[in-house]
Amino acid sequence: MTAQLIDGLALASQKLQSLKQKIETLRLTHPQPGLATLLVGDDPASRIYIRNKARACAEAGVCSIHHTLPANSTFEEVVEKIESLNQDPLVHGLLMQLPLPPHLDAKKLTQRIDRRKDVDGFNWQNLGALVEGASGLRPCTPTAIMAMLESQKIPIKGAHAVVLGRSTIVGKPVALMLVERGATVTICHSQTRALEAMTRQADILVVAIGKPRLVGAHMVKAGAAVIDVGINRLADGKICGDVDFEALKEHAGWLTPVPGGVGPMTVAMLVENTLQAYCALIEK
Ligand code: GUN
Repeated sequence: MTAQLIDGLALASQKLQSLKQKIETLRLTHPQPGLATLLVGDDPASRIYIRNKARACAEAGVCSIHHTLPANSTFEEVVEKIESLNQDPLVHGLLMQLPLPPHLDAKKLTQRIDRRKDVDGFNWQNLGALVEGASGLRPCTPTAIMAMLESQKIPIKGAHAVVLGRSTIVGKPVALMLVERGATVTICHSQTRALEAMTRQADILVVAIGKPRLVGAHMVKAGAAVIDVGINRLADGKICGDVDFEALKEHAGWLTPVPGGVGPMTVAMLVENTLQAYCALIEK
């Protein structure tokens, strides 16, 4: 069978247009929503991600302000910056780009971001709200994945979803969101035995493991929905996902490309989270 491709670029563009309209209406009576991005050091990949986030903000009418700190900043210096942005009334969303330089404790620093401005949804209060099924800011990649499944009306209730990867950024939160929507979820990771036997059971397979083209057709049930979260740079400079796209495009039921799949939709969800944080803050 020929897989239906889920076009992340087109979905992200639609999402940003609809956010733009909402923001235009709000701006008739309210100030502009603002997102602060913080980069510690100058990791080239992080700089590209931040640039993409700034472009999406501009497209939707969110003011994004970028802050950088030197790679050798101390823990206290980063805390000081986070706290000043927590206090800044023009900042409604605050994102600290990961990874941080190795001497900095990313988990501890992430917790210093005001939970109301935590547009990444990594603060433990927001993650706890997700566990509880309560409202809060939710991590962007998992919400992007859910929106992509919904865009194709892929049945989730009662489906068996297999998530490959157990990170706090993708694997664990997306598993919770799938459970919330009525899926039966299996989380697989590097220690999982008989991985193929697991993945072959999936109606929905979410792959976020960081290994180029790991998932081939032999690991996937024909007709399954396959969501590829991986972004891997090959020796020749090309970008590929964790899924062997060529092998799956005539085998899966739905498939997300890399690039142009989950990545752009994740960025659109960041803008949506910024608007959500803004609305909650201006209501006060
Ligand atoms: N680095 C890789 N993914 C992410 C993300 O979703 N948020 C942040 N802040 N950094 C990242």
